[in-house]
Amino acid sequence: MTKKADIGLIGLAVMGENLVLNMESKGYTVAVYNRTTDKVDKFVNGRGAGKNFIATHSIKDLVDSLEKPRKVMMLVKAGAPVDALIDQIIPHLEEGDIIIDGGNSHYPDSIRRTKYVEEKGLLYVGSGVSGGEEGALTGPSLMPGGSEKAWPFIKDIFQNISAKVDNNVPCCDWVGQDGAGHFVKMVHNGIEYGDMQLISEAYHIMKEYVGLSHDEMHDIFDEWNKGDLDSYLNEITRDIMGYRENGEPLVEKILDAAGQKGTGKWTGITALDLGVPLTLIGESVFARCLSAQKEERVQAAKVLGSPIKKFEGDKKQFIGYIKDALFASKIVSYAQGYVLMREAAKENNWDLNYGGIALMWRGGCIIRSAFLGKIKEAFDNNPELPNLLLDPYFKGKISDALNGWRQVVGQAVMSGIPVPSFSSALSYFDGYRTETLPANLLQAQRDYFGAHTYERVDKPRGEYFHTNWTGRGGDTASTTYDV
Ligand code: 6PG
Repeated sequence: MTKKADIGLIGLAVMGENLVLNMESKGYTVAVYNRTTDKVDKFVNGRGAGKNFIATHSIKDLVDSLEKPRKVMMLVKAGAPVDALIDQIIPHLEEGDIIIDGGNSHYPDSIRRTKYVEEKGLLYVGSGVSGGEEGALTGPSLMPGGSEKAWPFIKDIFQNISAKVDNNVPCCDWVGQDGAGHFVKMVHNGIEYGDMQLISEAYHIMKEYVGLSHDEMHDIFDEWNKGDLDSYLNEITRDIMGYRENGEPLVEKILDAAGQKGTGKWTGITALDLGVPLTLIGESVFARCLSAQKEERVQAAKVLGSPIKKFEGDKKQFIGYIKDALFASKIVSYAQGYVLMREAAKENNWDLNYGGIALMWRGGCIIRSAFLGKIKEAFDNNPELPNLLLDPYFKGKISDALNGWRQVVGQAVMSGIPVPSFSSALSYFDGYRTETLPANLLQAQRDYFGAHTYERVDKPRGEYFHTNWTGRGGDTASTTYDV
């Protein structure tokens, strides 16, 4: 009898192929299936030739070829296809078998699917997988959540195929119940949007305001990569600056209209739902939306003009300021992302390990960076840390960068360069550390026009007052609920 497979995978697109090649290279036998079955044959006779793969041509064959408890992993398009596939797989499984979704599913779907699959006596795992094609092949960051009972059965495979950092520590650990894995992956993607937007703003200022060449920007990103800003996204930006087509920088031939598949938008919506000021990621999503209005912007530029003034002064010093703005804004972005995770954990009863999440993101994934090691240290020092900005290391770093950050935002505003992420990060920082905000006036306005009531600074919290501001309204107050 032929050896049974350790795991089965449905969905042989590029991520699926690379992930199973990674599994096989670590000694696992993998059964593969794809809806268009030609792909299965092409794969096992092509990239998979001579390797420990079992080609299957139906879901039943796939399931029959698996060692028990069976582990069936899906890597298909998020949304309805996942639900349809789950319903096709379930009739072939037995109690204790495990269905794994490795796509970019929306976490409320994973919450719902965990319940649905568990009700059938099976186990469900929704796992974030990050690292793109290359990461899938050589070691992704994996963020599994769902039915905790599944973890001992998939732990070896997941941790063996994942990226490793600092003396072989896997960038994969159990995240939490039901949708926790996909939630953490969603926040990862939101932070990815923020990091990309911040780097793009730095590039915009350097190119349009300071007037630097691509070779100069290449060298600057290269230099930055040796210090606090050392990260995968910074590194690929350096390489993009250096990439030429027919002697010209290819980046300038690319249309400035950003795409998006929705994970950044979901992060923003979740933040609004939970009342978390996730301003930088929100602005990064909106910046993509504005970029996508290309034709309208071209018209608006004709009507409204492009008022960009050129930089005059000490370029070297100003480049240092841009680095400060980038680093300080990045700290704010991660601080906001971690606040979102904390609030979502409360809401969904997840026991998230914040230092562990930083470690999972430390290698393999798109936002991997040296900086995440510092975030891990911050949460190791204080697991209850309410905001990264309060950690002594990050507090010191922001304080060192503050002058440069303000210079960059100020000069960008004065010269007409849009910096939505740099400036929203700075406004958040200034708002967070301001004891008295003008919300007293806002509360007065709400009470004036709608009798929404207010609390007073000279009375205990929780006591609500209403004033008849005009003498015309009655004394009846509205209810005091907050969303
Ligand atoms: C990853 C990436 C991956 C994908 C993004 C792209 O972690 O490997 O985040 O999941 O490249 O979803 O997202 P947008 O198309 O929305 O930019």
